[in-house]
Parts: sequence; C-alpha cells; structure tokens
Amino acid sequence: MTYPGPPRPVRISATPLAELADQLGVTAPDSSAGVTGITHDSRAVRPGDLYAALPGARVHGADFATQAAGLGAAAVLTDPAGAERVAAAGLPALVVDDPRARMGELAATIYGHPGRDLLQIGITGTSGKTTTAYLVEGGLRTEKSTGLIGTVEMRIGDERIKSERTTPEATDLQALFSVMRERGTEAVAMEVSSHALVLGRVDACVFDVAVFTNLSPEHMEFHSGMEDYFQAKAQLFTPARSRLGVVNVDDEYGRRLAKEATVPVVTYSAEGHPDADWRADEVEVGPLDSTFTVLGPKGERIAAKSPLAGPFNVANTLAAIVSLAAAGLDPQTAADGVAAVPGVPGRLERVDEGQPFFAVVDYAHKTDAVESVLRALRKVTEGKLHAVLGCGGDRDTTKREPMGAAVARFADTAVLTSDNPRSEDPLAILAVMLQGAASVPAHERGEVQVFEDRAAAIAAAVARAEPGDTVVVAGKGHEQGQDIAGVVRPFDDREVLREAIQRSKA
Ligand SMILES: Nc1ncnc2c1ncn2[C@@H]1O[C@H](COP(=O)(O)OP(=O)(O)O)[C@@H](O)[C@H]1O
Ligand SMILES: [Mg+2]
Repeated sequence: MTYPGPPRPVRISATPLAELADQLGVTAPDSSAGVTGITHDSRAVRPGDLYAALPGARVHGADFATQAAGLGAAAVLTDPAGAERVAAAGLPALVVDDPRARMGELAATIYGHPGRDLLQIGITGTSGKTTTAYLVEGGLRTEKSTGLIGTVEMRIGDERIKSERTTPEATDLQALFSVMRERGTEAVAMEVSSHALVLGRVDACVFDVAVFTNLSPEHMEFHSGMEDYFQAKAQLFTPARSRLGVVNVDDEYGRRLAKEATVPVVTYSAEGHPDADWRADEVEVGPLDSTFTVLGPKGERIAAKSPLAGPFNVANTLAAIVSLAAAGLDPQTAADGVAAVPGVPGRLERVDEGQPFFAVVDYAHKTDAVESVLRALRKVTEGKLHAVLGCGGDRDTTKREPMGAAVARFADTAVLTSDNPRSEDPLAILAVMLQGAASVPAHERGEVQVFEDRAAAIAAAVARAEPGDTVVVAGKGHEQGQDIAGVVRPFDDREVLREAIQRSKA
C-alpha cells in the first residue's frame, strides 16, 4: 500500500490515547486506543493515526473525519467547533481550543522525540535560506550522514523527496525526523520560514544552531508590517526554539536581533563589520565563485570558497561556515565541504551550451533579491546585462512596482514578462511593473521590453546577448511549472533558456 504525503517511520510503538490526553491536560476519551502516527491531511491517514482536524478558512477538517475513520484513524484531535462534527464518525476525540498549537508536541511524543537525536541547524531570513541550507548540508556531509529540508526538496542522504512547502507541517516534520533517525541520519540542515514559525510548523523543534541571514520587506500579505515580520523571525532565537544563534550583523535587523535574542549569539559579517565575531576578509568575487579568508574570534584563519557567484553568496557561505563551527565541526573541514557543493538548483544556476555569453537562472522574486542579483552579475559582466523578470499573481501586490523599477534600473535590457499569473490578468500585473519601470528617470534605466509570454521573453533576452554579456532569467528558479489561470503547464526556466540558446546558435 502506498500513501500520499511525506514518508513515515516503519517502526513506531503505540502511544496510549490516555497519555496524549494527559499531555494536553484534557479528559481522556473512554478508549483503550493506541496511536502510531499523526496527520492533519484526511487523505494521508494511516491505520492507527491521530487525525488532526483543524479549522480552516473555508472548511473544517472535522468534515473529513468520516474519511479519516474509513482509512483507519484511531482518534481525532480537534477544537470545540470540530467536536460536534466528528461525533458522527464514531472516533474518540481529544478536544482543545487551538489544536494547531498542540499538534507539534503531540507529533514529537508519538514519534518518540526524533529531533533530540539529530544535530539540527535551522536557517531563517528573507533571502538566502535555501542557498545557505544547501551549503550547510555540504559542510555537514564531511563528518556526518545528513538530511536537508527546504523549498526545493527534502533529502535523506541522497534520496530526494519532493517538497510541497519550504517547511513541512509539524506532523509531517516530526515523521520525517523519525524516518531520518531510522535511516541513521545524524544532522539536518533546514529552512525555517516565518510562516513556519507563526503557524507552529517547527513547534517541538529545538535547533542546536539557528541562523539569521537578513530581513527586508516581503510577505507583507501575511504580516501586518516589518515589526510583526521581525518578531516572527526573532521567535526562533529564544530558548524554546534554539540553543545558539548565528546572526548577520551587516543587516540592520540582524544587529537588532544580536542585542534582543534570548539565546547566546555568535555574529558574522561579510562586509568587514568590526564588531562581528567572524568576518570575511580578502574577498575575491569571481564570475562563477568567490574566494575569501574567514577570520574567527580565536584567531582562526580559514581558507574559504563560495561555490556560487555574487557577493551575497559570500555572505551565505560565511553563514554556513560559522554555523558549522558553532555546531562543533572543524571550521576548515567544514569550509572545504561547503566549497565542494556542486550548486544549488535555480540559485544562480548556470546554463552552459558553449555560448559566448554567461546565462543563469535565479530564484530572485523579491525586490531586494532582484537588486542584489543584478548588482552581483553587473560586477562580473564585461558587456551588457539582459534580465527577464515577472511578478506572481495572487501574492504581495506591493512589490510589483519596485521590482519593475529595480530591473529597469539595474539591467541594460529589462524584459518584463509573466511569472505565475495564477488567477490574475497577466497584462494587469505587467502594467504595474511597467509603471515601476517608468518611475526610473529615462537616462538611468535600461531598455524596457514587455512580452506576456515567458518563453518569448527569454528568447528576446537571448537574441540581444553579445559575447561577454550576461542573460539572467529571474523569479522562478527551480520551479517546474507555470500557473496561468489556475492551470499549471510544465515550464522550467533552465530548459527554456537552454533551448533558446541552442536555437540562437542554429
Ligand atoms: N544573502 C542574500 N542576500 C540577498 N539576496 C540573496 C541572498 N541569498 C540569495 N539571494 C537572492 O535571493 C534568491 C533566493 O535565494 P534562496 O536561497 O532561495 O532564499 P530563500 O530560501 O530565503 O528564499 C536567490 O536566487 C538570490 O537572487
Ligand atoms: Mg527557500
């Protein structure tokens, strides 16, 4: 039998329902049932599971309790509103006011606290989480068997598991930790989004090391403002969630976090901040990678290489090395492991068909990231810089104008196009991006083109490229599809760019 959803451990001893009731401080249902798993997804229920029936925006999970019972659920966890609705399913129920807030701790109990046996490094920040997680995992590999959890994929050793979101729900996360433990994984590098922190996905996790990369406006559709966003990230740097913080003091919010965190903090700076514990020195930024020396608080001098282009990847690489050192690895060995990482999918990923110009795909889809990736590529481009960029529909609308402005300002050719329009009119999104581009004075902006069709936009950028130029296709990175009007068609920027380059040579 195969089940939907992330993997589950093979061997789990049952936890009596009464023990879970006791943990929650609620009356135990009249049942001798034992629980061997937990899920919030009624379709993924396996025999013996506790089905977490959560209130949702449109429906209540309790409405699927009969389906869960049919799949063998042993019991239900729900709120008072759900309790009435689950009665018909005939399952014993644990009823609490906020089941989502208790799901993580129950999952940890049911799976036997698997996180305690893993070295866990968690990475948060607006940009650089995925990249830094891959780099950390590369360093961990030098001494341990590893796992990786993030936007692009989850990995246990070399086995890849498709990732649906940056940080899985607490139920799936604890199951995954348990599978990792079963397979001998010793250490895990994990992205921790601010959604994950606010929605309790990392409840019951205590990270050995928590890393803060940076903070800039993003997800403002989810947070009420920068203060709210900062506070969400800052939660990770409290004793309930981590033991030690590694914080970037080149960032304004990082400097604040270094002061306000309630766990011990080690600081780093890639830009020579004199107060930082760890600094990057003698930085040589190249077109494909960068080299630098890491100076540590005890006089350490470590030869480091960022396997990815761009100054911000010096910062990401430094973050990785410092967090590995903080986790007790030998810093030089760790740095060598980081340098050996072959690349990160969709993050400044190179497309090389032997063409005389540099072509990359990058996941920059926030104003700040667009600006930093274009600045970084400008530094290593002899000729002109041609950039393709769109903005997603049904997401933060406030970033469309500034993203349009940023690409017009920092590229020689700004090809505006569709990202994932989702339910929105692609032309309406483009009109706002174009307004942003038009707000840049004419003598300060590059040539601006608009193609609604993304493949046509990529071909247009390639058509303009001369030897020594750079083409960057930004916004979708590793994504495999494009969502137009709710229909996801296969679309991979790397493949489309590769084909455009081949056609231009023919
Ligand atoms: N440290 C950084 N500072 C600014 N921009 C960055 C940094 N690291 C990466 N970026 C940009 O952000 C994009 C997304 O990077 P990624 O590592 O996927 O971050 P996240 O997982 O936090 O979204 C990259 O493709 C790059 O353009
Ligand atoms: Mg990510």
